[in-house]
Amino acid sequence: MYSFLKRILFLFSPEKAHYLAMDLLSLGLKLPFIKGIIKSFGNIKNQEKVNFCSIEFPNAIGLAAGFDKNAKWLHILQFLGFGHIEIGTLTPKPQDGNPKPRLFRLPKDEALINRMGFNNDGVNAAVERLKNRPKGLIVGGNIGKNKLTSNENALSDYNYCFEKIYDYVDYIVINVSSPNTPGLRQLQDSQFLKILFSQLHDLRSKKQESKPILLKIAPDLEFEALKEIAELCVSSNIDGLIVSNTTIDRSLLKTDAEIVATIGNGGLSGAVLSDKSTQVLHDIKQMLPLNYPIIGVGGVYSKQTMANKIKAGAQLVQVYTGFIYKGPGIVKQLLH
Ligand code: FNR
Repeated sequence: MYSFLKRILFLFSPEKAHYLAMDLLSLGLKLPFIKGIIKSFGNIKNQEKVNFCSIEFPNAIGLAAGFDKNAKWLHILQFLGFGHIEIGTLTPKPQDGNPKPRLFRLPKDEALINRMGFNNDGVNAAVERLKNRPKGLIVGGNIGKNKLTSNENALSDYNYCFEKIYDYVDYIVINVSSPNTPGLRQLQDSQFLKILFSQLHDLRSKKQESKPILLKIAPDLEFEALKEIAELCVSSNIDGLIVSNTTIDRSLLKTDAEIVATIGNGGLSGAVLSDKSTQVLHDIKQMLPLNYPIIGVGGVYSKQTMANKIKAGAQLVQVYTGFIYKGPGIVKQLLH
């Protein structure tokens, strides 16, 4: 059924199709017969709970950051079986993101290239929606900085978002790995991260409940940079890692080079990222203590690609591009 719907959705631009699909899902949930079909995607028997950072996740599969940036669709997405959803990236002020078009399909590679640029309603709008978040779903809050905030002032953006969102999510993710905010990836530098982590720990120590802080990294880091990050995460008591964000590497694509060139800059995701991000996961895992919490993301679209992440050291996985290409049954397919 999804292959038919996909053909229709793929007639629209990727960004339009994104909103159209979510509108159709919310409409479908109002019609009893369609609601039954939608709910059947998430009706998964014998799910295994996963304990991650002392939180019990309903299952091992989550929806990666960027899909529901503004926490608008948590109720709908929960019906599809996701055990957790990571909202964001959220910034202190709302921002439009980059000019359109900024999201592109590469069907030959089951991939996407995006340069969205943290388009979001701002952290405060998301917090208002999170006040009515669905029960039984784990929600992560992925935070970043506004485009107009310089790297020198980035600390205050992260602190602001952290403070605002802390009480409304189950874990927090520091995103310094998106390729679409100029200079953001430079914040993966250990000097910046050391100060940021220390400030976030101070903020957290004032809270009643201690929630996990995770760091999301790029798949394009060199071995030495990975080592520095691993050491820093351990010495700074960062609770876990998310490996990885999208890549700027185009070398593995089968899509015609001319088409790729006309698309231009952006982060590449999907099947073509799978091995690369799993390799980074494997490498950083060797540099970390046994059982260090890691969420594997990047090119999960089949049981095999999910198993590869788990074998490489991930306890949980997330999907984004696989959801676009495989459809709403992906969680059920992966867990079966
Ligand atoms: C993303 N991703 C992303 N990540 C993040 O930390 N913050 C964000 O705002 C976004 N936004 C975003 C938008 C779009 C359109 C895409 C395709 C991706 C990255 C995403 O969470 C994930 O790390 C990568 O897409 C790799 O996973 P998949 O897509 O290969 O399963």
